[in-house]
Amino acid sequence: MKINYKVIDPVGVKTPALIVFLFSDDKPGLRRRPELAGLKHLISPRLKTKDFTGDHLSVLGLFQEIKRGPERLILVGLGPEKEHGPEKLRSAAAKAAQAARDFNLQEAAMLLPPKWENLKNPEELAEVTALGVRLGLYRYDELKTRDKDKAGLLRHMTLVSAEKIETGKFNTALKKAEASAKAICYARDLVNRPSNLLKPDDLAREAKALARSQGLKIKVLGLAEAKRRKMGAFLSVTQGSESPGRIIILEYHGTGRRIKPLALLGKAITFDSGGINLKPADGLKNMKTDMAGGAAVLAVLAAAASLKLKVNLVGIVPAAENMPSGKSCRPGDVITSMSGLNVEITNTDAEGRMVLADALTLAHEYNPCAIIDLATLTGACLVALGDKIAALMGTDAELVQRLKEAGEKSGDRVWELPLYDPYFEFLKSEVADFNNAGGRAAGAIIGGLFLKQFVSEIPWAHLDIAGTARTEKGGPDTRIGGTGFGVNLVLHYLYSQE
Ligand code: BES
Ligand code: MN
Ligand code: ZN
Repeated sequence: MKINYKVIDPVGVKTPALIVFLFSDDKPGLRRRPELAGLKHLISPRLKTKDFTGDHLSVLGLFQEIKRGPERLILVGLGPEKEHGPEKLRSAAAKAAQAARDFNLQEAAMLLPPKWENLKNPEELAEVTALGVRLGLYRYDELKTRDKDKAGLLRHMTLVSAEKIETGKFNTALKKAEASAKAICYARDLVNRPSNLLKPDDLAREAKALARSQGLKIKVLGLAEAKRRKMGAFLSVTQGSESPGRIIILEYHGTGRRIKPLALLGKAITFDSGGINLKPADGLKNMKTDMAGGAAVLAVLAAAASLKLKVNLVGIVPAAENMPSGKSCRPGDVITSMSGLNVEITNTDAEGRMVLADALTLAHEYNPCAIIDLATLTGACLVALGDKIAALMGTDAELVQRLKEAGEKSGDRVWELPLYDPYFEFLKSEVADFNNAGGRAAGAIIGGLFLKQFVSEIPWAHLDIAGTARTEKGGPDTRIGGTGFGVNLVLHYLYSQE
């Protein structure tokens, strides 16, 4: 699908359908919406009769041709003006794109809504709207041979601004939206792809294809290399599976060679059965999702490269399958991690932190300015924050603050949990340096504290995306399944660093 823009009075747009956003507090007089003056005679009566209320995500199609203008209007509700923000707009834009598609249109135009406090500049408005349009049309259809939906039908969307926006800024906004959308959808595809079709080796192949198309440097470590590098924590997870693990390392250089890279780590357990501590039936259902952190890292590197962001990045994605077998590690086993620390595996289902432990040690070799990891690490995080907010923990106040700001801009919400050191006591081991799992209390924090053992002085932040990587509800801009959470968050963090 193509998205372009025009600066023009909306009444003069030649289009099969013009989408117009309205607040639920817009009055029939439309006095606060001067840009709608030419369309008032069509819209006002509908507001008067309450055929259209402006409630968030409400839709009304008006089939009335305007001379030398749009053939029809599609009204889409934004809800109350004072509750407005990027998330509401993104989902309304997604809903609007779906409405245009459902009217079997191949093209449509969309009048950008008015600005508000938290979306002041028109470029940001355009970016959020364009992203919403693309996400609204997303569907995982790689495996559908029938019932393909009509997503491909809508081919062209024109964003209309009544107010002048500088061409350069408009173009940048659309390019960012395009790159974010592509990256988010790519991450969703990988998360939605079933585990039998996405083994660690398949993920490595994906990464290689991505590296080729985006001009990234790539290295994939196999089992022999992992053994040679003494990655005992990583190996303890992959050893039980028939499908050998891989460590994927991608590099993107967008600025001076001397500038330290940001290290992005992503947990990629292509299927988490729990291992010998086998999960119960309910817990197994969606464990193909357990590579969402890795998918987000691949997607961010691709987007950064396609936008030519002026940053250096190293992406490290430890990929493995966690399976029970005669070769699996057992509860009570002690392994030596790449860092030299000995870990007693008290629960084989706490595998994410094991693969990340060695990935963290490996990351230090790249002398990064900071390390950010994304991981579907704990069920406790899902319990604490649900499917819309990820847990954020970190050792550096500035890094944490910037990630919070990126969270607000990107729509990927985060909430900080404390890395409260006294809780490390829950991981006390009688035989090794510490255990890999504690009890049920403070599960997400203990996951964070475990990872912290493998981090030096380098600023580090951990995003537990166990709750947010997948949604069972779906909405206009996220379908049931993988959400691509974290991609837009990290991209906005990078924008703030450029
Ligand atoms: N992949 C799971 C966490 C998870 C749970 C993600 C639900 C998404 C939805 C992780 O590997 C896991 O099993 N964690 C254990 C840790 C425990 C054994 C300390 C958990 O949360 O139960
Ligand atoms: Mn697990
Ligand atoms: Zn897991």
